Amino acid sequence: MNIRLEWKRALVTGGSSGIGTAIVRALADAGAKVAFTYRSHPEAAEVLMETLRQEGREAISVEADVSDPTAVKAVFERMDLAWGGIDILINNAGMDGERALSWETDLPSWRKVFEVNLFGAFYCASEALKRMVPQKGGVVLGISSVHEEIAWSGYSAYAASKAALGMLTKTLAQEAAPHGVRVLGLAPGAIKTPINRSVWSDPKGLEDLLRKIPLNRLGEPEEIARLAVILVSDAASYLTGRTVFVDGGMTDYPDFAHGG
Ligand code: BGC
Repeated sequence: MNIRLEWKRALVTGGSSGIGTAIVRALADAGAKVAFTYRSHPEAAEVLMETLRQEGREAISVEADVSDPTAVKAVFERMDLAWGGIDILINNAGMDGERALSWETDLPSWRKVFEVNLFGAFYCASEALKRMVPQKGGVVLGISSVHEEIAWSGYSAYAASKAALGMLTKTLAQEAAPHGVRVLGLAPGAIKTPINRSVWSDPKGLEDLLRKIPLNRLGEPEEIARLAVILVSDAASYLTGRTVFVDGGMTDYPDFAHGG
C-alpha cells in the first residue's frame, strides 16, 4: 500500500528527537506539509529543518513548551497563517521524568510530567479540534506508551499520565466522531531512542529489558513512524477512540510463557 498525504497539514510536537523526528520524516516522505515543535534540542531541530529544506519539503519549526497554553496557541496561529489550518496533529512531546518512588518524589517534578504529557496533549488537541470540527475532517494521534497499561515503579507520574491519555483519546474521539474527526492513540513499547539510552546502552539493563519483549529486540523509531502514518491516513478511516499498542509483544506479558 502506498500511503500519500499530499495537501495534508500536519503538526508533530516534540519533533527534534527520537520517535518525533522519525514521525516528522515519515509524514514528509508521504507528502504532507509538516510543522514541528521542539524545546530541548534546538540544534537537532535545525538539522531536521535543513534536511527537509534540502528535500524540497514544506516545513515549519517552532520552539514551544507544550505545557504552556499561550505558546501552544501561538503554534496553531502560525500554522493558520502559513497553511490556513491543520489536518493532522501528532501529540508526541513527552517526558519520563526522573525515577523516584512516590514517597521520595518532589511535587514540582511530578507535576511537570503531567503538565507536558497530559495537559500539553490536551492544549494541542483542543486547538486542533477547534479547527478540525468546523472543517469536518482531521485526525488527532496521541503517542502514548505501554505504560498506559503496565505499571512502572518509580514512574508514577509517567504511567498515570499515559493512562489518562488513553481516556482522553476515547473521550475526545466520542466528542469529535459526529464531525468526521478521528482521535487515536499509539502506544510504543521499548523503542531505541535517547529517552531510554541509559537502559539499552548498559548490557545488564538491556538483558533485563529484552526479557520483557517477546520479539526479543528493541523497536526502531521508524517502526512507530510507519504506523503513525497509517493511522492518520485514510487507510485507517474506520478506526477511532482506540490506542494501538506497537510493542513487540510487551503487553502480551511474556512471563506467562513459563506458567501462570
Ligand atoms: C519509556 C521508555 C521505556 C519503555 C518500556 C516507554 O514509554 O519512555 O523509557 O523503555 O516505555 O518500558
